[in-house]
Amino acid sequence: MSRYPATRMRRLRDSHFIRQLTSENTLSASDLILPLFVHEEARSVNVPSMPGVQRLSIDDCYRHAEQALTLGIPMIAVFPVVPADKKDANASEAENPDGIVPKVVAGLKQRLPELGIMTDVALDPYTSHGQDGITDEHGYVINDATIDILTRQALLQAASGSDVIAPSDMMDGRIGVIRQALEAANYPNTKLLAYAAKYASAFYGPFRDAVGSASKLGNSDKRSYQMNPANRREALREIALDIEEGADMVMVKPGMPYLDIVREASTNFAVPVFAYQVSGEYAMLHAAANNGWLDLNATALESLLAFKRAGAAGVLSYFSLTAAALLRQAH
Ligand code: PBG
Repeated sequence: MSRYPATRMRRLRDSHFIRQLTSENTLSASDLILPLFVHEEARSVNVPSMPGVQRLSIDDCYRHAEQALTLGIPMIAVFPVVPADKKDANASEAENPDGIVPKVVAGLKQRLPELGIMTDVALDPYTSHGQDGITDEHGYVINDATIDILTRQALLQAASGSDVIAPSDMMDGRIGVIRQALEAANYPNTKLLAYAAKYASAFYGPFRDAVGSASKLGNSDKRSYQMNPANRREALREIALDIEEGADMVMVKPGMPYLDIVREASTNFAVPVFAYQVSGEYAMLHAAANNGWLDLNATALESLLAFKRAGAAGVLSYFSLTAAALLRQAH
């Protein structure tokens, strides 16, 4: 191997053209998934812990979705905000065919048929206790009974036109059951994106404020189903199981603190791996930028590119609209 001065690593860094040409990874709008919170109120309302993010009225949700499509973002993810009086122990609102998710998905599909729509399969927006499933008398989330409800929730979403069903609850066996139900109900092309490696993370705080599950959850946590942040090998087992059960794509969540898992997943499995840059990651960058400590746009784009470098096919991020607009300007 030749050494200095024959080798000068800086030769390939001295001008824009050569940096461009030798770039190993790129970030583009087509890598992004935009999450949108939607509620059944006439007005959109700011989420204090997530600057720039709102609980959207249905009309504003349509407007944001249209903007995403215009900017080249291929898919949005719909997250419902459900009023407290519609929450109960069995998450019955999750099975309401006239609920906010089926309604918004149908509306989006009618208005923007070419935009991909992803929906979350989990019960936490609908439960009075804030857990992702139904609980026994000790507050333990019951796996198999929860799957029954998740399956009906998934079928309802598929019927309303959701393209990508994303179970985010971490129950065992739900991917296989939901896949079978989709096949039986004649939705052979509805895609399953499994949150295969989802950790019990403190970085979800602002999201729980946004959907109003934080106050419901109180002092409880989700460690009996979400993964232990200490574990890496277990993530590979989770991913292998979900693929075997019929997942088309997998998600690693949170994102930046778990880039090692994204890398391992993409190295070891030939399915598209996505990363979820969660609410706490978004809030951190905003908080620092608000103090004048970080450049928001630059750190947002750098953080998103890091997911690509780690092997992700794409990123679910609250920065998606901003990032897509910045990437467009840069051209
Ligand atoms: C749970 C769910 C969570 C998020 C989205 N769906 C985590 C949780 O509350 O345990 C968090 C997303 C984020 O923090 O941005 N179904």
